[in-house]
Amino acid sequence: MRANNTARALSLALLVLVVSVLGFVPGASCTEVSYDERALVIDGQRRIILSGSIHYPRSTPEMWPDLIQKAKDGGLNTIETYVFWNGHEPRPRQYNFEGNYDIMRFFKEVQKAGMYAILRIGPYICGEWNYGGLPAWLRDIPDMQFRLHNEPFEREMETFTTLIVNKMKDANMFAGQGGPIILTQIENEYGNVQSNLPDQESATKYIHWCADMANKQNVGVPWIMCQQSNDVPPNVIETCNGFYCHDFKPKGSNMPKIWTENWTGWFKAWDKPDYHRPAEDVAYAVAMFFQNRGSVQNYYMYHGGTNFGRTSGGPYITTTYDYDAPLDEYGNIRQPKYGHLKALHTVLTSMEKHLVYGQQNETNLDDKVKATKYTLDDGSSACFISNSHDNKDVNVTFEGSAYQVPAWSVSVLPDCKTVAYNTAKVKTQTSVMVKKESAAKGGLKWSWLPEFLRPSFTDSYGSFKSNELLEQIVTGADESDYLWYKTSLTRGPKEQFTLYVNTTGHELYAFVNGELAGYKHAVNGPYLFQFEAPVTLKPGKNYISLLSATVGLKNYGASFELMPAGIVGGPVKLVSAHGNTIDLSNNTWTYKTGLFGEQKQIHLDKPGLRWSPFAVPTNRPFTWYKATFQAPAGTEAVVVDLVGLNKGVVYVNGHNLGRYWPSYVAGDMDGCHRCDYRGEYVTWNNQEKCLTGCGEVGQRFYHVPRSFLNAAHGAPNTVVLFEEAGGDPAKVNFRTVAVGPVCADAEKGDAVTLACAHGRTISSVDTASFGVSGGQCGAYEGGSGCESKPALEAITAACVGKKWCTVSYTDAFDSADCKGSGVLTVQATCS
Ligand code: GAL
Repeated sequence: MRANNTARALSLALLVLVVSVLGFVPGASCTEVSYDERALVIDGQRRIILSGSIHYPRSTPEMWPDLIQKAKDGGLNTIETYVFWNGHEPRPRQYNFEGNYDIMRFFKEVQKAGMYAILRIGPYICGEWNYGGLPAWLRDIPDMQFRLHNEPFEREMETFTTLIVNKMKDANMFAGQGGPIILTQIENEYGNVQSNLPDQESATKYIHWCADMANKQNVGVPWIMCQQSNDVPPNVIETCNGFYCHDFKPKGSNMPKIWTENWTGWFKAWDKPDYHRPAEDVAYAVAMFFQNRGSVQNYYMYHGGTNFGRTSGGPYITTTYDYDAPLDEYGNIRQPKYGHLKALHTVLTSMEKHLVYGQQNETNLDDKVKATKYTLDDGSSACFISNSHDNKDVNVTFEGSAYQVPAWSVSVLPDCKTVAYNTAKVKTQTSVMVKKESAAKGGLKWSWLPEFLRPSFTDSYGSFKSNELLEQIVTGADESDYLWYKTSLTRGPKEQFTLYVNTTGHELYAFVNGELAGYKHAVNGPYLFQFEAPVTLKPGKNYISLLSATVGLKNYGASFELMPAGIVGGPVKLVSAHGNTIDLSNNTWTYKTGLFGEQKQIHLDKPGLRWSPFAVPTNRPFTWYKATFQAPAGTEAVVVDLVGLNKGVVYVNGHNLGRYWPSYVAGDMDGCHRCDYRGEYVTWNNQEKCLTGCGEVGQRFYHVPRSFLNAAHGAPNTVVLFEEAGGDPAKVNFRTVAVGPVCADAEKGDAVTLACAHGRTISSVDTASFGVSGGQCGAYEGGSGCESKPALEAITAACVGKKWCTVSYTDAFDSADCKGSGVLTVQATCS
């Protein structure tokens, strides 16, 4: 055992040396990256890394500079992203590095902003991304086994990894070349699934192969593996993902403590309400991490963005990937989360030397209260006092001074005397974003086109035939959500049957002789379901056409790629009233991937299509709609409100904005009825809290990036909808996302700062009260507090008509009526 450890230590030492050497490429601005047990060592200096995830395909190149700049202004020094294999290589050796897949442009923007970058190649990436980023065509390769030790998978993975690394090298993107990349990741959370894989020996060989293959790439910066809890290859750094990572310890004696995913919120599914992780809790987790020797921390997500096109995985993940991140889906600053974390970053950055060079001393003040002191050789020190009690505020004495530390919070004392920051005390304003109606409201003139379904109601038109009901992902290579399964049978007299189809999901439409017999979709989770509908068969030939549709492919779990979609074996049966069963499962089935409208690219609105402005139908399944509209003026983000529609896909000027499903109403979960930032935040085991949107439309608004629009006045913009299930476009309208009410709390001595955005100004100050206890920003419960007239007047005078203002809460605000006590709550309106 000891010998093993010694060998391991030696190999680690060697690794650090190798990494340092490789990282050094002669040149004026090259940066050397290595690491030790405390931190990444960049150009000989231990550093703290404050990083944020921004996934380039989830926004547009036009948005990138602003997102990156906002991250920098928010106090981050690093941007992290996954690499999206199936977006870059949609078909074997046909590559896409254009538009929002222009990864090189993204990294150049990071470099231009003077920030570091973390490149998480994966190329399995999970990420609520379709198939976890793996191309579905891998399934066509003989003997392919995903994420195990086998030549086909390893060959494809290495080919793609090498391609990305070489692109980065060619553009001098690695730190040793003078570029921004300081860390690289291979695989993703393999440790979470490894023990559930079918072949343990193969799994071990694979994960070690991954590490060796990665190291052979000579990128000159360290390789990491996240959540590789057991079986960590010696030549990578193991890192942590989770809501909290302060207790994590990487295996290996000289590894820094790296947190690759601090989940700032959570992803949304069509049937789920919106997840919110309180700013106080995110800040608590970060402060705990740095208090406990953490040195590299990345927010997953800092900007979540949008799952454009068919990119969402899951299945059943929405088109929005907002994530409750510090920057919202559209790139707006989300307050107070953004500002509260920014203030923490400022304090932590001021303590950088202490955190990574200081000698650490811990004092337990009670079982859940701890003071930590980092002292430098020059005698200066920086401290934290943490209180991990769920609901017990504490008064403690530390080094002769008394401190009050609220429950579930950390106080940060950069000089070990004064509390510069407490994670539970939010000094940043809250901004409530509103969707403002624009000129195009309700005024859209629709024309329509039926999806050409007729050939689908035969058993002849198709790509191939089989006597089996096949799995959808393999059959269609995920080129479309849709796969037709068609067959026929000849009967004597007219007869009633019940049609039963057993399918693995996600949706099924059944047609008999061209008539829609019914529709059903799966429940999120167990995607298996049985479709059932009464049907009438006529004398002679009858056609049964089944259209199966997927809603994003699975992205997580052991052997997730083998989770089937589509009718797979069925059975498909007709059962008569007398119990006679006709099993169609082994009939001859004709297959056709995709719809005609997709093939014809109707969304591009090419000339020659017969759009009709007459008798625009509602509730008609398989219908294309089109309208032109004027882009809303200004710079605020644009969304399209799809209220009234059912399920389908929305395009603007040919850009696929993603799947829509506003008929899906989010369930009511207990988490909508309680929110306390104190206590552990989790999003599973029915322990969710701070949810909103229970019983509301799962996703009503869809992001239309400004760069997709013709902004010039009078310039036409076209919206095309493919309504699959039957809806009403009458209420569809375009809106902009603006700051509405803004609110702030202040204690005496604090300054109240309020700000609007996008040129809007404060139009009124609505509340300036002490002791407000009910409601929330934009809807404080009247009468719960005591209004301070002097405060209201002073803040009104200072703020109305301004884009932003700062007012100090002084004795003058203590009106006689209220006896001037406690926290002052201010609410104003931007318009
Ligand atoms: C992690 C995974 C990420 C993402 C996250 C949840 O387990 O590594 O890719 O899926 O969960 O948003």
